[in-house]
Amino acid sequence: MRVTIFGTGYVGLVTGTCLAEVGHDVICVDIDNAKVEGLNRGVIPIYEPGLESMVKANHASGRLNFTTDAAAAIEHGDVVFIAVGTPPDEDGSADLKYVLAVARTIGQHVQRAVVVVNKSTVPVGTADKVRATIAQELANRRTTLVFDVVSNPEFLKEGDAVNDCMRPDRIVIGTDSAQALEKLKRLYAPFNRNHERIVAMDVRSAELTKYAANAMLATKISFMNEMACIAEQVGADIEHVRQGIGSDPRIGWHFIYPGAGYGGSCFPKDVQALAWTAQQYGCNPRLLDAVEAVNAAQKQHLFELMQRHFPDGVAGKTVAVWGLSFKPNTDDMRAASSRTLLAQLWEAGARVQAFDPEATQEARRIFGTRDDLHLCATASEALQDADALVVVTEWKQFRSPDFGKLARTLKDKVVFDGRNLYDPAEVEAAGLAYYGIGRGRSLRTETQA
Ligand code: UDX
Repeated sequence: MRVTIFGTGYVGLVTGTCLAEVGHDVICVDIDNAKVEGLNRGVIPIYEPGLESMVKANHASGRLNFTTDAAAAIEHGDVVFIAVGTPPDEDGSADLKYVLAVARTIGQHVQRAVVVVNKSTVPVGTADKVRATIAQELANRRTTLVFDVVSNPEFLKEGDAVNDCMRPDRIVIGTDSAQALEKLKRLYAPFNRNHERIVAMDVRSAELTKYAANAMLATKISFMNEMACIAEQVGADIEHVRQGIGSDPRIGWHFIYPGAGYGGSCFPKDVQALAWTAQQYGCNPRLLDAVEAVNAAQKQHLFELMQRHFPDGVAGKTVAVWGLSFKPNTDDMRAASSRTLLAQLWEAGARVQAFDPEATQEARRIFGTRDDLHLCATASEALQDADALVVVTEWKQFRSPDFGKLARTLKDKVVFDGRNLYDPAEVEAAGLAYYGIGRGRSLRTETQA
């Protein structure tokens, strides 16, 4: 099938590439000329495992093309995806300006019956707005055309996006048109092998499904972070608690990892946007507000632990930070916990030596050049002459450091483990003080010392 995708961000680029990979003829449109030129030369603007080779192969085969020419792209597609950003507005609501701009463009150029598919994460009711916007543009052109607007939210995880797209656990399609549903079923047939993955529903339910999924996952994380806080105070170890509850299939092992707080482009934004929608419709989103508040507090927790360890403050200290991206396998630092920590350390007068396997360039873009930040090329370089180590992101290569070497290198011999990667006993046996998230054990050790 011939597919057009507006937006070459995470969602648009990955979706377009995967659709081309299974044989569809895909054109991706973006307003950013440099990005489009880069993509046509095989320059991938994001770090996503497996994506680069797939983009190059499909581009070489002619099935995947990038353009800034919206009119030609609309002419191309039987199915036109909207996969542009929905950044948060000041009040936490999702800003629809990019989505509606694409709708206007479609309305201005479309010449035949198309199915417009919304993949951007948008508040309930947005498909109606997109439909009205296209209809208005058609009316301005005195043109009558049949078109459908479908909600088809994405559930991609950064760092594993290609895999999620190629092997989706479900494909949610929200539409009241049997024809549009049939078309999308054909489009997704290559991804729908072995068992039925398509969940068809009305448009508004599909729109809400996306938010409900992300809010549920964020809730699990904030719940565990609150449990971690309790564990810390009562002298329990949340890691034992996690293992004690995860084996119950009703709870499950996923998304019960306490840590330095959730970040990224989805959870923080979507929880707030859903709370905003709830309020608009007269619901009181008590739970969503709490999920957000717990997360905001959790992002400050590593610094609180540091204050506990350094009662005289961290002014003049050099702190090694391992991990800047909001999670491993991405260079994305949007709403990353590292940003909260670094801001607090700088405010308190500390110097930061940071290492991240992929996000160095992004960190340089965000923070610029400053005397109190040294972006290091290796994890061990970050440790040189450092007083303490803080692990913020659980990149695989941070999982088993040489603790003896750490103890010899770190001047204050202390490790703050923001993702509970280490066995406290092992770290302490090497002569280091250990702080994790929700590990009351370290408090006990501290009291004993
Ligand atoms: C998320 C959803 O998982 C995905 O389905 C949706 O389409 C977009 O939002 P993503 O933001 O890429 O994907 O990352 P995810 O792996 O879900 O992690 C989000 C954040 O939660 C990260 O900061 C991660 O460190 C944190 N997290 C995750 C925890 O703190 N604990 C956990 O147990 C799991």
